[in-house]
Amino acid sequence: MTAKLIKGTEIREEILEEISAEVKAIKEKHGVVPGLVTILVGENPASISYVTLKIKTADRLGFTEVQDTQPETISEEDLLKLIDKYNNDDKIHGILVQLPLPKHINEKKVLNAIDPDKDVDGFHPVNVGRLMIGGDEVKFPPCTPAGIQEMIIRAGVETSGAEVVVVGRSNIVGKPIANMMLQKGPGANSTVTIVHTRTKNMEEHCKRADILVVAAGVPNLVKPEWIKPGACVIDVGVNRVGVSEKTGKAILKGDVDFDAAKEIAGSITPVPGGVGPMTITMLMKNTLKSLKFRLGIA
Ligand code: GUN
Repeated sequence: MTAKLIKGTEIREEILEEISAEVKAIKEKHGVVPGLVTILVGENPASISYVTLKIKTADRLGFTEVQDTQPETISEEDLLKLIDKYNNDDKIHGILVQLPLPKHINEKKVLNAIDPDKDVDGFHPVNVGRLMIGGDEVKFPPCTPAGIQEMIIRAGVETSGAEVVVVGRSNIVGKPIANMMLQKGPGANSTVTIVHTRTKNMEEHCKRADILVVAAGVPNLVKPEWIKPGACVIDVGVNRVGVSEKTGKAILKGDVDFDAAKEIAGSITPVPGGVGPMTITMLMKNTLKSLKFRLGIA
């Protein structure tokens, strides 16, 4: 059996088209567009490439886009002042501080300074709390888990009553996706287990999964025999395992042994081109949502 491929690159295009149409309609009716600021501190190459892609995507959708690049040496106090400026800027609906930050800056303090109603990353404790309550309370689901849920829904995978096993307990992926899948509502209503480095028999848990979400950051952690035949496998891992001699680019591998797993799973996300493209897409969706909340039309 060969699994159906759940392609993030294709789903991204569908969602960006939907966002683009909504942006046009809101602009015509209300005369405003979503505004996103990305704050980049220093010159981390991975951060620069993420931020560049965020800006390109926002531009393509007709958002107001501000890229605010600050030197590595900026003080915590000045960064907090900058965030305050954007908290009070009516043209800005989403504030994103690219992580990681330099060591002399307290990351938690910075993230907590963002107005929760502009926190399109969904990292502020207020938004984490809203996510935990679920339903109408949720404003900004964090982007990677939101992308995962959207992929599961659009692939037509049944979630109600499904056994979902999440591998990994990070604040950015594992914990929020587990929480989202157990809520009441579409793309959820699942029975959820989280497994992690201290779990006694990870393999036995994984074998039960109708939907297996793997976000451990360990290449080839999940072996083909851990996968229930016909299961939906979502691989969040992006591991650089070498450099291609041909292109000079990094070779990326997920947390799942893809070639073997695709012969057993019912559907599976590739790496690259699976979950990766969904994160920025959902950031755009959250920024549009923020404007809609402001206009009272969300
Ligand atoms: N660094 C890597 N991924 C992310 C993300 O999703 N949001 C922010 N703010 N920083 C990141």
